[in-house]
Amino acid sequence: MSQQDRLVIFDTTMRDGEQSPGASMTKDEKVRIGKALERMRVDVIEAGFAAASPGDFASIQAVADAVRESTICSLARAVDRDIEHAAEALKRAERARIHTFIATSPIHMKYKLRMEPDAVVEQAVYAIKKARNYVDDVEFSCEDAGRSDIDFLCRIIEAAINAGAKTINIPDTVGYAIPDEFGRTIRTLLDRIPNADKAIFSVHCHNDLGLAVANSLAAVTNGARQVECTINGLGERAGNAALEELVMATRTRTDLFNISTGIDATQIVPTSRLVSSITGFPVQPNKAIVGANAFAHESGIHQDGVLKHRETYEIMKAEDVGWGANKMVMGKHSGRAAFRSRLTELGVTFATDAALNDAFARFKELADKKHEIFDEDLQALASEAITDSVEDVYRLVSLESHSATGEVPAAELVVAKSGVEHRSKSEGGGPVDAALKAIEAVACSGANLLLYSVNAITQGTDAQGEVTVRLEKGGRIVNGSGADTDIIVASAKAYIHALNLLESGSSRQHPQNDGV
Ligand code: KIV
Ligand code: ZN
Repeated sequence: MSQQDRLVIFDTTMRDGEQSPGASMTKDEKVRIGKALERMRVDVIEAGFAAASPGDFASIQAVADAVRESTICSLARAVDRDIEHAAEALKRAERARIHTFIATSPIHMKYKLRMEPDAVVEQAVYAIKKARNYVDDVEFSCEDAGRSDIDFLCRIIEAAINAGAKTINIPDTVGYAIPDEFGRTIRTLLDRIPNADKAIFSVHCHNDLGLAVANSLAAVTNGARQVECTINGLGERAGNAALEELVMATRTRTDLFNISTGIDATQIVPTSRLVSSITGFPVQPNKAIVGANAFAHESGIHQDGVLKHRETYEIMKAEDVGWGANKMVMGKHSGRAAFRSRLTELGVTFATDAALNDAFARFKELADKKHEIFDEDLQALASEAITDSVEDVYRLVSLESHSATGEVPAAELVVAKSGVEHRSKSEGGGPVDAALKAIEAVACSGANLLLYSVNAITQGTDAQGEVTVRLEKGGRIVNGSGADTDIIVASAKAYIHALNLLESGSSRQHPQNDGV
């Protein structure tokens, strides 16, 4: 197969995905997602925006240290400071890419940048040359390309390639494009730009009109050879193109695309679950490929057909994307060394022996309640052990809940607030409502509850329930998560996690703010 037949998969779950309100990830969480993406054999991992905050910077460094097979990338506006930060954060990466961008649409240049088109070209060229002083692999994006003038795009891209950009990204930043039109744009750029053959053309589509995947595929049909995407389609506003959909569409319809990715598709479902659990963004049941119903055949006619001959109704095999692959990895009798080694494979490391011992004790408790422990259970347990830090303001000490037919549900619990234990009791519409009210009576946070959701982590009635609680306060949104075989306890843990995130608020700069 020629070079042209390879589609580069660029994952931006940890950068654009993290721009979803409330989806911020800690350094350790990013390392775990990075390891999962590496196992999936993603080509390029955009691990963050180094200049956004010291936390983003440290996360990119940590991902670059832990992930050696994929290229690690940092976003940078076309300004000195951003490029210097990106280069520094990527210093130890085995393979590093700096992704610099500037807006090219008339509306962005006039109102956001307040720059003339000539100055925008000059700034882009300057930034690319500067980035090339640090790394060979430089990507340049024309922000809001979907609404940019085609002549201007040709001009700035030609200059960008001459300045040393190896990948040219055409983002539909506001999700405005329509597939035919977007495909034509890519074809025109490839036909008209004289040095287009010196770079790989990439697309980065947002989903505001629900067309991110369709637009990306139209671009691939017309010559794009990199797609930027996220797990579960996470991302700013309505999200980005979903990695799993792009990979499976090109794979299922090779007859049309005649292209291959290097992706190990069996890692798709486990990675989807990991991202959902870390960010607290549940996956809708009817979501393509990774939704719980994606391979469920409800109707009798369909079931009959599938039993007789699977291809009657199935275009993909569930096991090919990792469904049913969750294997029992551990049980009650597994030892500390096996526990540590499996977690290391999953990208989870513990800073101290005490932290490892604490996580192992939680594992033993879980193994008493649940015979079979799957990777998903270990991931949930690790999230909890890692997020449960000593600096936390709130900690759940104990919880008792009561519900019986004909009686008002009630909860009584002890919560430690800054080390001081408080007992609290409340009634509610149900036991979860009662428990959260009892916690709020101690915290008095006044936060608005935006979302409460429960998902079973694995199958069976002894599965752990994973609860997400999204809280908003003063414009800040956080997602707390908690897992337990008792969903009242999981709910209390999730609420407390969200309260701790609100307390710990660190600020980050948004990459698409004017940086020039
Ligand atoms: O949507 C967008 O334009 C982006 C760029 C920074 C690539 O995220
Ligand atoms: Zn974007």
